[in-house]
Amino acid sequence: MTRAPYDERVTNTVTAALELHHVTKRHGVGAAAVTALDQVSLSIPRGTFTAVMGPSGSGKSTLLHCAAGLDRPDSGAVVLDGRDLTGLDETALTRLRRERMGFVFQSFNLVPTLTVEQNAVLPLEFAGRRADGRRVRGLLGRLGLGDRIDHRPAELSGGQQQRVAIARALLSQPAIIFADEPTGALDTQAAREVLGILREAVTASGQTIVMVTHDPVAASYADAVVFFADGRIADHMARPDAGAVAARMARLSARGAA
Ligand SMILES: Nc1ncnc2c1ncn2[C@@H]1O[C@H](COP(=O)(O)OP(=O)(O)OP(=O)(O)O)[C@@H](O)[C@H]1O
Ligand SMILES: [Mg+2]
Repeated sequence: MTRAPYDERVTNTVTAALELHHVTKRHGVGAAAVTALDQVSLSIPRGTFTAVMGPSGSGKSTLLHCAAGLDRPDSGAVVLDGRDLTGLDETALTRLRRERMGFVFQSFNLVPTLTVEQNAVLPLEFAGRRADGRRVRGLLGRLGLGDRIDHRPAELSGGQQQRVAIARALLSQPAIIFADEPTGALDTQAAREVLGILREAVTASGQTIVMVTHDPVAASYADAVVFFADGRIADHMARPDAGAVAARMARLSARGAA
């Protein structure tokens, strides 16, 4: 039997950074209940950059929340870095997040009392690892934060805070980085810079990144795009280019509006 390449990887725990097995997640109860994820199965190989796209409300953020154990699926299983999240309690999930995951979420805020540099190295310190000061400042410099390293989050713009979160996620080299619209608050030039840095972390250091984006240009930096519609995977595109992604998105949005 021939199966799609994506299906073949579903049970490949050795190489997958993340697996979802028939994950269903509903929000709300009764008549107001919404099925945000409907039997979603996917596998994210280690060392790859995956973009997740789809119309507003299609389930992208719910996917990231379930994958990170911030939300519990109603059914199905999430396996992160070889660990099944299903039976884990909150303490174990918190530890797993701290040790194996990086986040670039707007709601995953920086610590207000710490400087940019202190925020960026926090996960390393939690893990009892030493931060290489030159590497830290080098990365912050490339993210356009070189003259902000001693500032506190309240003294930064939204886009600058997001770039601190990117530095924080990259520095600890977690098993997987989840990013929800990491370039949403950035101008075109800053967005290209950040995407280039994410791309390089995957290509040069074997980092695994899953990034939700609405921007076809951002998606074109990824190795593959997974398209969501109505809580299901509607399509998968390898080696995406911005034009093809935009065309696919336009068809998905038109379907949703019909
Ligand atoms: N806490 C919640 N309570 C009720 N419904 C929710 C909740 N969170 C999400 N939903 C619903 O679940 C569906 C999926 O939401 P989700 O946030 O995953 O979408 P999304 O693809 O991230 O959208 P966007 O592109 O707008 O960020 C939507 O219909 C949304 O209204
Ligand atoms: Mg969202």
